[in-house]
Amino acid sequence: MKNVELKLAFAEHDLSELEVADIALYNRAKEAAANAYAPYSGFGVGAACLLDNGEVFTANNQENAAYPSGLCAERSLLFYVGANHPEQTIVKLVIAIKSKLKDPKKIYSPCGGCRQVMAEYQTRQSSPIQIMFESGENKFLVCKKVDDLLPFIFSF
Ligand code: THU
Repeated sequence: MKNVELKLAFAEHDLSELEVADIALYNRAKEAAANAYAPYSGFGVGAACLLDNGEVFTANNQENAAYPSGLCAERSLLFYVGANHPEQTIVKLVIAIKSKLKDPKKIYSPCGGCRQVMAEYQTRQSSPIQIMFESGENKFLVCKKVDDLLPFIFSF
């Protein structure tokens, strides 16, 4: 038998410690969250990503009366970028929540399905995607790569 331990790394930042460009990206995610189509959960999520050519794209969660047909903000964004900018590298992805249900003290990390998609896009582009999400009032968690959110990505 062999016991193995995995190390995951992340940093917690106050808003004031973030770079101006990261705050701008977060603001884009917040704007996107405000446009979420989330009539069933009332939970708006926005995502913004920066590509290596400097372009920024945003998306939000899109729900549907046939619940499983809806899609999270992160996957809406990644599938859009994957479909339209397959040659570009995604450098970072920021997530923001806009909802009356939002607990200002809570960590809102991306769901498992979105982590799997992030991980595969990272593998596809052979370059890490930095992920940033809210972890309390004006606080953020930053993972330098998707591996820190999802070890053991499924692949075949
Ligand atoms: N949601 C996201 O957009 N991203 C996540 O990572 C988790 C959840 C959405 C899905 C649904 O529209 C709403 O949040 C409530 O689950």
